[in-house]
Order: sequence, then C-alpha cells, then structure tokens
Amino acid sequence: MSGAEEANTRIAIDGPAGSGKTTTGKLVATRFGFRFFDTGIMYRAATRMAQLQGVAFTDEATIVHSIEESVLEFVFDDAGDFRVFILGADETDSLRSPEVDHGVSTVAALPVVRQLMVQMQRDIAGDDQIVMVGRDIGTVVLPDAELKIYLTASAEERARRRFEQNRSSGIRQNFDEIVTDLKARDVLDSEREASPLRPADDSISVSSDGKSLEEVVDEVAQLVKAAE
Ligand code: CDP
Repeated sequence: MSGAEEANTRIAIDGPAGSGKTTTGKLVATRFGFRFFDTGIMYRAATRMAQLQGVAFTDEATIVHSIEESVLEFVFDDAGDFRVFILGADETDSLRSPEVDHGVSTVAALPVVRQLMVQMQRDIAGDDQIVMVGRDIGTVVLPDAELKIYLTASAEERARRRFEQNRSSGIRQNFDEIVTDLKARDVLDSEREASPLRPADDSISVSSDGKSLEEVVDEVAQLVKAAE
C-alpha cells in the first residue's frame, strides 16, 4: 500500500502488565496519526464499579447486570479522550489505584464481562487506523489486525517501570508490593480460561528489556511501515 492515509492498518499490541504497551502504543499512534485505545481501562472501570457498589469481584451476574443497566458509561470527550463514568460521576482518574490493580484480573476473568467489553472494543476499532492495546487484541478482539505485536520485558524491569510511573502520579506503593501484584496478575491473566494472555500465532515479539522507550517505538514503527 502506498501511504498511511490509504491503509486501514489496525495494530494490536498485547503483553503483560508494565511491558510498556500503553506508552509505546500511544507514541506509535501519534507518529502515524492513528487513533489509540487502551482496553485495560474498560476492565479497570468494571473493577472500580464493583468496588464502589460493594460487589464481590467474582460476582459476575451483578457486575454484568450493572453494565447492562448503564451504571458504567464510556464516553469520548471533546478532546477525544476516553472517560469512565460510574453512576454519573467521572471516575477516570481513580482507575490506576492499587485496589483496582489488585482486583482487576479477577474481574477480567469473568467470561460474560469479557464478551460485553470485546463487543464494545470492536465497535470502537471499527475499520479504522488504530493502535489497540491489551491482552487479547491479536487473539480475540481483532484477530485479523494487519500487525500484531507481543511486547515483553522481564518482571523486574516491568515492576521498576510501574514503580516510577506510580511515583510520578503520586501513588505510594512499595516496590515489593508491586512485584508481587504484577506476578500475581501475570499468572491470573495467562491461566484464565476466557481468552488468556498469550501471543497470537502470527504476532511479532518485541522485548523492551534494556531498550529506551525511543528504541522500542522505533522498532515498532519499522514494523508498522513494513505492514502498510
Ligand atoms: O497497565 P497494565 O498493563 O498494568 O494493565 P492494563 O492494561 O490496564 O490491564 C489491567 C488488567 O485488565 C490486566 O491485568 C488484565 O487482567 C485485564 N485486561 C484484559 O484481560 N484484557 C485486555 N484486553 C486488557 C486488560
């Protein structure tokens, strides 16, 4: 194909927590003028909703009912940013708390919750140029994406990045807690029955270990150009 404007390139980036999917994905999207969407926000939103309603993270029927009753609302604001409303209140800024981090993989393992989220994610992607990041984008959400990246990094490197990220957003959590949480999420995400985290057969693995953000973005950008 001749150029970014004409290609309907959909890029799936999957990988474990803290591998740099969101930061890398956003920069790649900006570079090519594509839209960007982080699907993790949706599972975090469902978790925050359950937390606010005092519903157990395993109570699928109640969580699904609340989603269907629009207790949870997803809105793109005028700036194009994705915002999460729970019972009318904007909860977007509370989705990265340690409590949500801790419960999100339990909620994300609920199969009917996933079905609802995946449908919304496919609607958001449409047929457009987009970089979509998550755990099952290449395997389930957009199985015919033109480019699938599986982004990895060692657990220590991922924990270190999360620690820095949290610190700069004012979230206090000690390093060991982050490592434990991250590893627990890796296990839950990879071993669940409903669309577990795994590389799609036709994905390209990119490791971000020992590389600067710019190097990883360049590497992915080369793959995007090759896919167009
Ligand atoms: O930013 P981080 O990598 O820590 O997590 P996230 O992308 O915000 O995703 C939070 C959690 O949501 C993951 O640990 C998964 O349990 C779940 N998730 C999922 O199951 N499927 C996706 N497509 C995206 C996230």
